[in-house]
Amino acid sequence: MFLSGTMEVNNEGMLKIGGVTAEELRDKYGTPLLVFDEKLILKKIKLYKKAVSSYPGPSQIIYASKAFLCQGLAALINQTGLALDIVSGGELYRARKGGFPPDKMFFHGNNKLPEELKEAIQAGVAVFVIDNAQEARLLAELARGFKKQLFCQLRVTPGIAARTHDYIKTGQKTSKFGVGIETGQAEELALWIENEEFLNLQGIHSHIGSQIYDSRPFRELIWTLLQFLLDLRRHHGLILKDVNLGGGIGSPQTAQDSRVDIISLVAEVAEELASTCRREGYPYPRLLLEPGRSIVGEAGTTLYTVGSIKEVNNSKNYLAVDGGMSDNIRPALYDAVYEGFLANRCREKPEIRAAVVGKCCESGDVLIEETELPRPRPGDILAVPATGAYSYSMASNYNGITRSAVVIVKAGKAEPLIARETRKDLIRLDRIPSRFQQL
Ligand code: LLP
Repeated sequence: MFLSGTMEVNNEGMLKIGGVTAEELRDKYGTPLLVFDEKLILKKIKLYKKAVSSYPGPSQIIYASKAFLCQGLAALINQTGLALDIVSGGELYRARKGGFPPDKMFFHGNNKLPEELKEAIQAGVAVFVIDNAQEARLLAELARGFKKQLFCQLRVTPGIAARTHDYIKTGQKTSKFGVGIETGQAEELALWIENEEFLNLQGIHSHIGSQIYDSRPFRELIWTLLQFLLDLRRHHGLILKDVNLGGGIGSPQTAQDSRVDIISLVAEVAEELASTCRREGYPYPRLLLEPGRSIVGEAGTTLYTVGSIKEVNNSKNYLAVDGGMSDNIRPALYDAVYEGFLANRCREKPEIRAAVVGKCCESGDVLIEETELPRPRPGDILAVPATGAYSYSMASNYNGITRSAVVIVKAGKAEPLIARETRKDLIRLDRIPSRFQQL
């Protein structure tokens, strides 16, 4: 049983998160319900802050809001002093509505729309992470129009591929993100930006992929990025201030998964950057990291209600829950592995093996390939831990399923972060052309 953060099992065999029982959560908010453990989110943030404190230069941790964002979380992240990575006008809007100051936001994305860039410039977003030459031209033109100096980082592709699922690799040469160092495009674009009156090139950015469990790929990344920075200095006398290593630090999803020691991994990365700079006589750049999953992943647990239970061919058991790929597409999309247990019967012995499936009309709607459980009964509560990242943020209304509610728990109290979507919400944007209407 994967119990992290404040998760515990009481004498009745009932799961508690943040001091609130799964039953109370189910009764008050319904299921599927995504429950965030506030203490665990804050603990992860603390670990990151502590880890970079060993770096001799300046540093900034940026929360990657694509992992999970709502106004309440934006407000909480703001209280911790972290900056925010946004990738769209929608994330900008949501975070601002949550009171997050734009001057602590980093705007990412490989196709930022002109309107989105304008909105971000007007709002006073801190840093624009430029993905490609066309975007640089567009941003320069807009900056001239607004007569505003914009701070930028250039996203480069270092030619390093993290050993992870193909869909979540981003550092390889052929990635859709960033400009290549090897091809000379990164150098050319850096110089172009540097010469633009209203663009102020602060540094470089790279994100090599997700679920990285050791410091080796980051150290490789540092060597490549430093080489690039040294070349810019040698050939053009250009010294940049920011080295943004992106996110991607792994986060366990099951009890068997390896745990990342954030402090030692980040400290190793910081030391690699510091020692390489010392060796080369390069001024310590500001070190930036953009964790998403490793901040909210483990802190989120999804609670479902068990519905149909069936045995097929005397061999395979299926247990169906009231959500599925509509609230967590990750098993179907990336073969992500989670574990589940009956939150109301935690102390009972496992009796059967079952696949946990959702209620979508899709054979691939399997949340857990196989898990061992006490014989389940309809109405039991199934908990799937470590589902805080990229679940709600990738949720859909497939099959007309309304989106889950999200709550945050702390010290025996649960409070809503996102209300459950209603049927009215579901059809809010539907329009019926008058000629289709019955007279
Ligand atoms: N910075 C940049 C520029 C990124 O593209 C990402 C993730 C992050 C930071 C945060 O990475 P993290 O620390 O969360 O691994 N939907 C996929 C993950 C896509 C990640 C996209 N970029 C999934 O569910 O695994």
